[in-house]
Amino acid sequence: MRISVIGCGYLGAVHAACMADLGHDVVGIDVDPGKIALLSSGHAPFFEPGLPEALRRAIDSGRLRFSTDPADAAGSQVHFVAVGTPQTAGSDAADLTYVDAAVQGLLPHLADGDLVVGKSTVPVGTASRLADLVRASSGADLAWNPEFLREGFAVADTVAPDRFVYGVPSGDAGERATAVLDEVYATALATGTPRLVTGYATAELVKVSANAFLATKISFINAMAEIAEATGADVTQLADAIGHDARIGRRFLNAGLGFGGGCLPKDIRAFRARSRELGLESLDFLADVDAVNLRRRDRVVDLAGELLGEVRGARVAVLGVAFKPDSDDVRDSPALDVARRLHAAGADVVVHDPEANETAARLAPDLTYVDDVPTALRDADIVLVLTEWKQFKALRPAEVAALVSGRRIVDARNVFDPAEWREAGFEFRGLGRP
Ligand code: UDX
Repeated sequence: MRISVIGCGYLGAVHAACMADLGHDVVGIDVDPGKIALLSSGHAPFFEPGLPEALRRAIDSGRLRFSTDPADAAGSQVHFVAVGTPQTAGSDAADLTYVDAAVQGLLPHLADGDLVVGKSTVPVGTASRLADLVRASSGADLAWNPEFLREGFAVADTVAPDRFVYGVPSGDAGERATAVLDEVYATALATGTPRLVTGYATAELVKVSANAFLATKISFINAMAEIAEATGADVTQLADAIGHDARIGRRFLNAGLGFGGGCLPKDIRAFRARSRELGLESLDFLADVDAVNLRRRDRVVDLAGELLGEVRGARVAVLGVAFKPDSDDVRDSPALDVARRLHAAGADVVVHDPEANETAARLAPDLTYVDDVPTALRDADIVLVLTEWKQFKALRPAEVAALVSGRRIVDARNVFDPAEWREAGFEFRGLGRP
């Protein structure tokens, strides 16, 4: 099948590479010439395990190319819209500028019978508005097919997702769209991947409600961490115990520095803003979910201050600035936020992240970035573990003690056994743990 993918960021670049790897003939289109040049040479513009290999295989097979020219979408039967929907400056609502521009840019190149497929996360109501536009100007149809990929697992999540959701119009147009998407995703469907066919509004809501649920689950356990801190309980034991109840489940119950990244924070804000636009208070609780999440950052800054006595002039080793492990993404990263706040308070902050040093340095050039863990730890007055990379989890107290000048550690992702560090003479603080 001939496919175009508009937008080659995290979502679009992975989608284009995976669709070509599955045997489709794909053109990825983006307005950024630098990104297109990198992708065309088989290089991913960001760290994502498995993506460079998928890109090279697809390019070598001749089934994948990239372009900055929207006219190159002409001739494809399916056009995926995979551009970003960031938070609007000065408001919580989603900024639809890029989605609108992508669809407008496609219109002159669409043929009757083509299918435009939205993958971007959008406020409910967007698909129906865009479908009217697409139909009126070209006779093409539109479907909304949300993407649930996680960074770090993006290739696997794209090739073999948990489920497919197709938001389609009613009647013949819906049946046509469903048949086209079934052909696009034939490989995964053949293995029994569930596929749900819904209307536009449901498909749009599936995506934002899934992210709102995950964010709420994380903030729930972080709220329990606050209670644990006030009462001497241990939130990690609590999570294990309630997680054994299959109705609750242990996944996404890791208390710590909280959620960040390019999706959960902005999606819960946009979802609440949209519900307010609809005249509903139903999602007002998401403001509390957001607030609990942000308070965890305050807590880590406070713990560092409490252990150090004086932050100004202290040497602070920050292990991890990515918003989560196996990613170089620092968008809305809780870890980078904590590092910047300690720097602003006068600390000498030395950062090591296995992949995110460069992306962080673009946003926060004033911090010191080093290439390995020992250099970060050397002469540190305090160590903060802010992202749970496996190489940080493997650290043992003796090797850290040999390098630092003060035995103080904040385990902001609850990856260590506090007793082991305390026995080695460390002043140890976790989140929600005695
Ligand atoms: C998320 C959704 O999982 C994905 O389905 C959607 O398509 C995009 O948004 P992603 O942003 O890649 O994916 O990260 P995810 O793995 O969900 O983690 C989000 C944040 O929550 C990270 O900052 C992570 O550190 C944090 N987190 C996760 C916790 O604090 N505790 C947990 O138990 C799990």
